[in-house]
Order: sequence, then structure tokens, then C-alpha cells
Amino acid sequence: MHPQSETDRVTERSLAAYANIENTRIRELVQGLIRHTHAYVKEFKPTDEEWEFAWTFMANMAKFTREERNEYLLLFDVLGVSQLIETVDHQRPAGYALVGPFYRANAPARKRGESIASDDTAGDRVRVTGKVYEIDSGAPIRATLDVWQAATNGLYENQDKDQPDYNLRGRFETDDAGTFELIALMPTAYPAPTDGPVGELVRVSHRSPYRPAHIHFIVIAPNYETFVTQVFVKGDKMIASDVVFTASDEMIGDFHRENGEWRLSYDFRLKAGVSKIPKAPIGRWRKI
Ligand code: BEZ
Ligand code: FE
Repeated sequence: MHPQSETDRVTERSLAAYANIENTRIRELVQGLIRHTHAYVKEFKPTDEEWEFAWTFMANMAKFTREERNEYLLLFDVLGVSQLIETVDHQRPAGYALVGPFYRANAPARKRGESIASDDTAGDRVRVTGKVYEIDSGAPIRATLDVWQAATNGLYENQDKDQPDYNLRGRFETDDAGTFELIALMPTAYPAPTDGPVGELVRVSHRSPYRPAHIHFIVIAPNYETFVTQVFVKGDKMIASDVVFTASDEMIGDFHRENGEWRLSYDFRLKAGVSKIPKAPIGRWRKI
């Protein structure tokens, strides 16, 4: 047997120190984190200065994180990790998207055909219609759609003191035929927040901070897997450079003019499973 190196001994002792976590899943996750971070350190051998930079970066992240903003979630979004989690967790139906940092719980229940935009919100309206159905049988589903989007100034209402509470947010019910109808804004591209450490990372990488124009949807129905998605605009050039790697061919909507208005017809497919409401990253809410 080869004599063990000091570095391998540290790794083994660290793994052993967490071997008594009773919950198997949590134990595997903690030990997996140790295994992979130790492998990273062994591969890149960070210098003292690099290690100091890393924990200072984390300290700055903490300074930017508060109830209405989660810089850590944003970091994992721009590193592609959040979207990766969606794709490994949900192979089917295609088109699962990350929730993102701007989902807010308890959006107002709105009537069929109602607008999520207040009358004084700038921008073109789009009438969105569609159907929610079971992916294999095509059977219609009575579901709730939780919808949210940014204003044309690129800001979600929680970032913008000039927008009314819960502007551009709403919950809609489908009918017995699984159909829904609502009015939204024609979506606008906007940058992910750039004023914190994550913005600095995006800047030094010479990446565009923009997300292509989109509308968020969470489709929830009892006994079906909750479907979290976003709908993008066909032909939008920014789709390829989405700062959070979410936009894909599976989430393209055909926004078009019809009878003098913008229209989008978009269906959602659900598969049987556990219905869960995602945790809203924005906690107790306070206007900025
Ligand atoms: C969003 O679409 O709301 C979003 C997602 C990830 C980072 C920033 C914004
Ligand atoms: Fe968004």
C-alpha cells in the first residue's frame, strides 16, 4: 500500500468527521461537497491571496443579501447552476426554467382575461391564451398559473418605487377545459442586478448582464409536478446569451399581431407527480 499523503489524510479525516449525520441524504450531500471542494483545491492549489479573495468575495455577497435580494441565488444563476438543477431534476416535460430572484409569493388572484399591468404601466399589452393539459393523455387540467414579469424600464415592482404593489404579478385559474386567458405586457429584456459582487464577476467576464425578454409562469395543480417556466420571444437575438443560461428552444412563444393587438397562444403540459410551490426568494417585502 502506498503511504498516504498529508493532503489525502486531511480529506479522509474531513469526510470521516461527517460520517455520523443520521439523515442519509444530508450525509451524502455534505460528504459530496467535501469530496468535490477538496478535489478542486488539490487541482488548483489556491494561493493564500486567492483564498483571501474568495472569502472576501463571499463576505461581500453577504453584505448584498437581504430579504428582498439574494446575491447567492444570483451567483448560482449566472454560473449556470440553477438552470442545471432544473434540467437534472426535470427531464420531462421540457422547458423547466429557474425561478429566479424576483418571484414573490401570494400574487393577487385575478379574473380570467384580467391584466397583470396597472392601467398606468407603460408598454404594449399582449393577450395570452392557452391550455394546461396532461402530457400523455392530453386531458385538460384545472390549474393555477402564477405569472410575473418586469416593466418596460427593466424593473420588477419590488425594485421600483413607482410601480404599485404586486404590479405585473397575478394568479389565474384554468377552466374545466384547462384554458386560460390573461393580459400581460409585451416583455422587455433587462439586466440582472449588476451593482453587487455578481455584477462584478459578469463584468470582468465581458458577459452581457441581460436576460432576453420573457414572462415567468409557474403552473400548479394538485397531483401534478409543478411546472416552472419562462416564455421568450421568437427571434430574440439575446436568447443565445441569456446571462443565466435558461432561454432555450423549448420556451419560445410566437408573439404576433392579430386583430389589432399582440397575441400569444401558449400551452403548458404537466405530468403526474407532487405539487409544490417554490420558495419565494423575496421575503418580507419592502419598497426600495
Ligand atoms: C429573472 O428572470 O427574473 C432572473 C433570473 C435570474 C437572474 C436574474 C433575473
Ligand atoms: Fe425575469
